[in-house]
Amino acid sequence: MKFTTFTLFALLPATALAQSSSAASASASASASASASASSATASGAASNGTEYLTTVLGALSAAGLTSLVSAAQGIAGTTEGQALLGSLSQGNKTVFAPSNAALSNVSQDILSNNALLTQILSYHILNNTCTPAGIMSTPNHTIARTTLRGGNYTLPGNFTAPLVLSKNSTNSTGFQIVQTSNNITASGNGTAAANLLVYVIDQVITLPQSLTTVLPQLAPQLFGLAGSIPGLATQLTSANGITIFAPNDAAIGAIQSSLGTLNSTQVTNVLSNHIINGTAVYSTGLGSGNYTSAGGEPFKFVTNSTGSYVTSANSTAKILQSDVIINNGVIHVIDSVLVNTNANAQAAASAYSSAAAAASTSTEANTPVTATSAATTPSGSTSASGAASAGERLAPLGITTFMMGGIVAVVSAVVGGVITLF
Ligand SMILES: *[C@@H]1O[C@H](CO)[C@@H](O)[C@H](O)[C@H]1NC(C)=O
Ligand SMILES: *[C@@H]1O[C@H](CO)[C@@H](O)[C@H](O)[C@H]1NC(C)=O
Ligand SMILES: *[C@@H]1O[C@H](CO)[C@@H](O)[C@H](O)[C@H]1NC(C)=O
Ligand SMILES: *[C@@H]1O[C@H](CO)[C@@H](O)[C@H](O)[C@H]1NC(C)=O
Ligand SMILES: *[C@@H]1O[C@H](CO)[C@@H](O)[C@H](O)[C@H]1NC(C)=O
Ligand SMILES: *[C@@H]1O[C@H](CO)[C@@H](O)[C@H](O)[C@H]1NC(C)=O
Ligand SMILES: *[C@@H]1O[C@H](CO)[C@@H](O)[C@H](O)[C@H]1NC(C)=O
Ligand SMILES: *[C@@H]1O[C@H](CO)[C@@H](O)[C@H](O)[C@H]1NC(C)=O
Ligand SMILES: *[C@@H]1O[C@H](CO)[C@@H](O)[C@H](O)[C@H]1NC(C)=O
Ligand SMILES: *[C@@H]1O[C@H](CO)[C@@H](O)[C@H](O)[C@H]1NC(C)=O
Ligand SMILES: *[C@@H]1O[C@H](CO)[C@@H](O)[C@H](O)[C@H]1NC(C)=O
Ligand SMILES: *[C@@H]1O[C@H](CO)[C@@H](O)[C@H](O)[C@H]1NC(C)=O
Repeated sequence: MKFTTFTLFALLPATALAQSSSAASASASASASASASASSATASGAASNGTEYLTTVLGALSAAGLTSLVSAAQGIAGTTEGQALLGSLSQGNKTVFAPSNAALSNVSQDILSNNALLTQILSYHILNNTCTPAGIMSTPNHTIARTTLRGGNYTLPGNFTAPLVLSKNSTNSTGFQIVQTSNNITASGNGTAAANLLVYVIDQVITLPQSLTTVLPQLAPQLFGLAGSIPGLATQLTSANGITIFAPNDAAIGAIQSSLGTLNSTQVTNVLSNHIINGTAVYSTGLGSGNYTSAGGEPFKFVTNSTGSYVTSANSTAKILQSDVIINNGVIHVIDSVLVNTNANAQAAASAYSSAAAAASTSTEANTPVTATSAATTPSGSTSASGAASAGERLAPLGITTFMMGGIVAVVSAVVGGVITLF
């Protein structure tokens, strides 16, 4: 049968509405015993046909009870960015962190109805590769995985994508954590395959990378206060296109409080500038191998040994306590003491910035997740999170009500365009 979106909606029985809610609590492990039959496209076959592909994948999500996520897809399908996101799903293997209906019910209507923002949020729930628990590092180490989020309020040189930090508990490897500043989100099991997608249902929506002025007060309040006392510094930091900040924690600032009093404002500015790499986001994986100059123009040195990873500026060395806190224009690494280097070299700083910008414009972004320890170190293997999708069971496109199908048809037709064929 051929349906246009309009005719399918017109044919929907009113009772279909009631059916849709019964599937809402199912998890993606989709034990759903089948009745309705939708397209049974295979991963490879589906990818070659946008209509069939999206129908299959959205049908599988609906059948697994992820009806709010499908509604969100329906919302963004009317926008160019949303169509680009949905259209890119079939390109290569992907991991989807799929918020449950309960998770999405906690998101404000203001956000759900802002399709540009919603597209950004959903982009941050998709990894551009397959990610299985086996490939994720155990705490205190972690894995940095690239998502498909770029643009909008997220700015990195080269327009690189935003990463997520993932970590698992070595004594309980049946799940893993999406590490966030204020709370972690648990993903359980090995994920469930839907065509080329490996789907993990999560019970909270992942927070987009926040600005420095949101994150720093939680992470290093004293440093935030100190930086705020330097006119213009906060704006320079938040407007940077790519920034790396070594953030002394409160104890570190407290320990040098008295000597800070003996420094004039230029010296304080220099000290703070020597905690910053301007123009690039350097994750823990890149620290060991890179030659970096601070925003004050002073060289950094990095050392990793059995006791941890350390950063040095002039005669000051600090231990990296927590690495890879992702912000919307870069990354923060928390350190245990202040790098008291009052020297500055404006020329070296400007030249380091130009090199960083030039490097970003010519480098290509890794699609594989980067594996990092929680302290700075050289990469210990760069592709270990690319486990086999076969670990997941197939998310069968079953148990879809006519009502759900209406939403799916709306999305598919918006993305693919025109009249589409079903069943
Ligand atoms: C896509 O799949 C639909 C349904 O199976 C089919 O009617 C259509 O011809 C296919 N399009 C292409 C370009 O293969
Ligand atoms: C960008 O940030 C502003 C201010 O926080 C917010 O209003 C807007 O919705 C955000 N837009 C996107 C696409 O993230
Ligand atoms: C963390 O990474 C370090 C360096 O690769 C390794 O020696 C250590 O065993 C790892 N720890 C865990 C718990 O995996
Ligand atoms: C995802 O990876 C593919 C290659 O597998 C690449 O072509 C594409 O640009 C990547 N997408 C994003 C959003 O980075
Ligand atoms: C970055 O990528 C996004 C999404 O593809 C796009 O909208 C934006 O214009 C790009 N920004 C730049 C500076 O290229
Ligand atoms: C790891 O899991 C075990 C068992 O669930 C738990 O007792 C322990 O506290 C967890 N450790 C961490 C670091 O979360
Ligand atoms: C192991 O972790 C999973 C997911 O985080 C959790 O559901 C389960 O209860 C944990 N098991 C134990 C023994 O703590
Ligand atoms: C989140 O996970 C990380 C890494 O396992 C851990 O260090 C941190 O304490 C966790 N945060 C919360 C709020 O549980
Ligand atoms: C996950 O996959 C591993 C092997 O990759 C397997 O040992 C384990 O039993 C699987 N866990 C679940 C919950 O299916
Ligand atoms: C980064 O360098 C640019 C260009 O030299 C400069 O305008 C900006 O203020 C610098 N930012 C910081 C935080 O030093
Ligand atoms: C700050 O102190 C340094 C070192 O004593 C000195 O060279 C510089 O001129 C002083 N700057 C200001 C603005 O007082
Ligand atoms: C996707 O994953 C499958 C199974 O692991 C693999 O055979 C295939 O080569 C992958 N495709 C791409 C484009 O990476």
